Amino acid sequence: MKIVLGPSSLQLGEKIAELMRTKPVTVASKNFPDGESYVRLEASVRNEEVAIVQTTGPPDQDTKLIQLALLADAAKRSGAEKVTAVVPYLAYARQDRIFLEGEAPSAQTIARILQSSGIESLITVNVHQEKVLSKFPFQARSASAIGLLADYLRRKGLKGAFALAPDNGAMHIAEEAQHVLRGDCGYLEKQRDRLTGQTSTESKKIDVKGKSVVIFDDIISTGGTIVSAAKIVEALGAVSVHVACIHGLFIGDAEKRILEAGVQEIVATDTVPGKFSKVSVAPLIVSELSR
Ligand code: R5P
Repeated sequence: MKIVLGPSSLQLGEKIAELMRTKPVTVASKNFPDGESYVRLEASVRNEEVAIVQTTGPPDQDTKLIQLALLADAAKRSGAEKVTAVVPYLAYARQDRIFLEGEAPSAQTIARILQSSGIESLITVNVHQEKVLSKFPFQARSASAIGLLADYLRRKGLKGAFALAPDNGAMHIAEEAQHVLRGDCGYLEKQRDRLTGQTSTESKKIDVKGKSVVIFDDIISTGGTIVSAAKIVEALGAVSVHVACIHGLFIGDAEKRILEAGVQEIVATDTVPGKFSKVSVAPLIVSELSR
């Protein structure tokens, strides 16, 4: 199998290729003066199965998606046998259905665009709602990196910590982490206004007094969800609060707000590369590609 180093996931692609003991296919990329994207495969992929590693997190999600589509088309036209997209963070996946009349179910829209560019299967990591993948026009699966995150925290001395989900939707994540941390787990109640996007979180009856707490979520975007949850657990008497997420987007002053809310450490994976990418999903991707 040939690993293509998409411009947005260079380091992760290199790690994956190294673990698979294969020489990666490098990509020449640039933006034209008007902002349009250019990509070119720098090695042959003829008669090869190809995995293009290209995350689509902010900034410039749309450009990253276009680069992915161009690379898939280039690979197919160059004679690749099969093209798999490895998209650790899948942009637009959160709009998995039509909430308000007149919207597009953007996850499906993107999947159809990718299919028309030649992508025949897709691997992602902790997609927001796994059921969205069943509506994709090709085989798509989501691997979970929660075990890797929890293991990192366990090795840092957080064995027995309380795994907290900031809302009911993330409870399965907290439960998965609990299997590794071996402490208790629970969730808070979060409501989101569909028009304004504003959220409000309410305290629930969770027993975190005197405990170390790790708040687990799939995505940190503006940090609002984590800040509310951190304040609640502190008020409930937690001794320390750590935060772990798969996809750290950290929009605006998210980092500052989270740290000011008393969070001791933020841990994220490299699905969206950044300063908190302390855990790599490379081994997870390799085991998915080897399936
Ligand atoms: C939403 O349900 C997700 O799981 C995250 O909780 C959300 O995307 C985080 O967004 P923010 O950091 O802006 O609160």
